[in-house]
Amino acid sequence: MSQAPKAKMWGGRFDRPPQADFYEFQRSFPFDKRLLPYELAADRAWARALAAAKILTADELAKMIAALIQIEQQAKSDPAWLAASPAEDVHHFVELQLIERVGTLGAKLHTGRSRNDLVATDFRMFVKDAARETRTAVAALVSALLTRAERHLGVPMPGNTHLQHAQPILWSHYLHSHAETFLSDATRLAAAFHSADECPLGAGALAGTAFPVDRAAIARELGFSGITLNSLSATSQRDFALDYLYALSVLAAHLSRLAADMTLFATPEFGFIVLPDEFSTGSSIMPQKKNPDCWELIRGKAGRISAALFALLSTLKGLPSGYQRDLQEDKESLFDAHDQSLAMTRIAAGAVAATEIREERLREAASDPALLATEVADYLVARGVPFRQAHEIVGAIVREAENRGEAWPAFSLARLKSFSPAFEDDLHAWLTVESALARRSVPGGTALETVRAALKGCRERLRKLEEAL
Ligand code: ARG
Repeated sequence: MSQAPKAKMWGGRFDRPPQADFYEFQRSFPFDKRLLPYELAADRAWARALAAAKILTADELAKMIAALIQIEQQAKSDPAWLAASPAEDVHHFVELQLIERVGTLGAKLHTGRSRNDLVATDFRMFVKDAARETRTAVAALVSALLTRAERHLGVPMPGNTHLQHAQPILWSHYLHSHAETFLSDATRLAAAFHSADECPLGAGALAGTAFPVDRAAIARELGFSGITLNSLSATSQRDFALDYLYALSVLAAHLSRLAADMTLFATPEFGFIVLPDEFSTGSSIMPQKKNPDCWELIRGKAGRISAALFALLSTLKGLPSGYQRDLQEDKESLFDAHDQSLAMTRIAAGAVAATEIREERLREAASDPALLATEVADYLVARGVPFRQAHEIVGAIVREAENRGEAWPAFSLARLKSFSPAFEDDLHAWLTVESALARRSVPGGTALETVRAALKGCRERLRKLEEAL
């Protein structure tokens, strides 16, 4: 149990120190120590701003910066030292360390600022880095999907809706669908980055600092594109964290859907893919088992990502204006959501890259005639039959075949003509997986050349994304 340290950030108006359990309860240092690099950068920028405003002399500034750098180095080289501090939070930690190193000069740094604008600044910087890191991982996942799609171009598979055979598609078309989906996640992550990209420092506790600091210069030094425009909202809103958690929640939902496909495709019933040993685990009792745990865990973890979004939304809902201590609850679940989403994305990219397909099995599954029923209806439409009637006619053919335990593609032309005189002997040439695929050359469709062009386009957009990272 940590006792409140002697050097306090507040306490002048208190008769008694905080009760030990309560001190521990309200501390955030055990988790916000993760913000230390951002805190120290913000401290340096603030020290320079105070010097520019003639509140610190050049000599004091130099001492202060040197001490801040020392703290940074010690924290890097000795994590146990960091963890052992009884500081209330990361802001308190730096102040304690500064005072230890430069005495009363250390007590000058907090001039004109508050933990309220500091924590908002640190947390925004964290979210910006986090969003960029996740975007990099998402780009690698898109690349892995495209590489597999390019490699197997031309292999058909059954396309499903409602988990029932629907129409044939290319395996590459399937993989490209996930690539496009994850590219859209990159867009949402970029939006979260921009939402965090305004510097609150100088907002003070709520009303703005009373010292003539150059907020734009501070923002520039800290890598922000601009400054927040209202000190009250700057210190009490966490929209950037919500935006990031939303982007992560959608990403996690997408990962969980890819995971659902992969676990199904790896079953003996589907048999479309071979689970890579490197990303699978065995059973402690059943020697034959190879389980898709990487995908199951990805799917399972998706829940806690959206839970983090709802946790923060619930914390923020109904809060009065201005900083409230409730806001301290913004960090832990976001850190966890970030760590988990990043790991999930990286593992998914590795597993996709290592997954082999069973091409013969895919071709065999794609040869189910049921997948061509729409083609028969389209054939009739091409011969002038209104689609709804064509649908009815093909439905009747399928029903009769099913009732008699026959395969309708084997029906003779004469028998087919009894359902519709529009049938001719060119039907069977029309009724192949290849022609079903080839007819879908509309942009975004599954025809071979269309998919080839789509993969190229997607690669190009991925390249632009990687350049922008
Ligand atoms: N640890 C606090 C947090 O994470 C820092 C801000 C504290 N501000 C205050 N007025 N008590 O939100």
